[in-house]
Amino acid sequence: MTLHKVRKAVFPIGGLGTRFLPVTKALPKEMLPVIDKPLIQFVVEEALEAGLEELIFITGRGKEAIENHFDTAFELERMLYDRGKLRVLADVKQCSLEPGCASYIRQQEPKGLGHAVWCARHLVGNEPFAVLLADELILGAKMPAIAELLQTCEGEGNSIAVTEVPYEHVSRYGILAHAARQGMICTAHDIVEKPKPEEAPSQTAVIGRYILSPRIFGYLEQQKPTSSGEIQLTNAIACMLKDGTPLTGVYVSGRRFDCGARDGIVAATLFRALQDAALAPIVRESIKVFDSNERAL
Ligand code: UTP
Repeated sequence: MTLHKVRKAVFPIGGLGTRFLPVTKALPKEMLPVIDKPLIQFVVEEALEAGLEELIFITGRGKEAIENHFDTAFELERMLYDRGKLRVLADVKQCSLEPGCASYIRQQEPKGLGHAVWCARHLVGNEPFAVLLADELILGAKMPAIAELLQTCEGEGNSIAVTEVPYEHVSRYGILAHAARQGMICTAHDIVEKPKPEEAPSQTAVIGRYILSPRIFGYLEQQKPTSSGEIQLTNAIACMLKDGTPLTGVYVSGRRFDCGARDGIVAATLFRALQDAALAPIVRESIKVFDSNERAL
């Protein structure tokens, strides 16, 4: 068996982001900022820091802002340089990706995460690859979350980032049935998409980072759309697991925020602000003032 190094990262960004409407009517959800950095930039930096070399974005209608964000902005950079705004210039330049390392494919219709991943099949080819969801933000980790998965994946198996979630939240996630946790990892027996709490096999939820074997494309091909017309990645992984490809859950370090929902993006923004020497006192003071004003009403 030839073991391939994981070199390619797939970023599915073709979703509609309906939970954030109306802001996502004209702005891609993945461009929502956590203070001054858009969600997509966090995961791209995570992938590059982990040593992934080829970035594949699965985009859709109205997502052009993402391509522009990672491009060189010649006039802006020249203007910042002429005005001596060198610190901001460095931040802007940091967004430009190395020429030739990014590819963009259109998912013509948002037919689900599984369909978006399947759209990458020709660019991925026959090698294992990473998938990173921009709306799952992991901050304050010891190392890039996807690097924690890369460290633990073995052979041709699949790895998935997981975390424990409250019982009442299991129906928002893919949930693992698994053997006892051993340190950072657990071995999965099954994975179910958005179970009812009373039917969930555990509270171990999948959180938007995957290392997948290219065999997944065959399983995605065979998936039937759900009643909402979507192809689920979780269901394809479940079929692959049943056929004997092992699946490892990795309890990644760091704090994870579900930025596909409003509460997650607010919490992530506060978390970052409280770690920023200039913003932290303003946040603390504002909360004190707003809180006492509320009570006075
Ligand atoms: P979500 O499940 O959060 O869906 O997608 P969504 O459409 O973006 O958001 P809501 O639920 O309507 O608010 C998780 C990730 O998968 C991508 C999304 O862009 C997001 O990064 N995705 C989802 C696709 O690339 N294509 C799809 O068809 C669906």
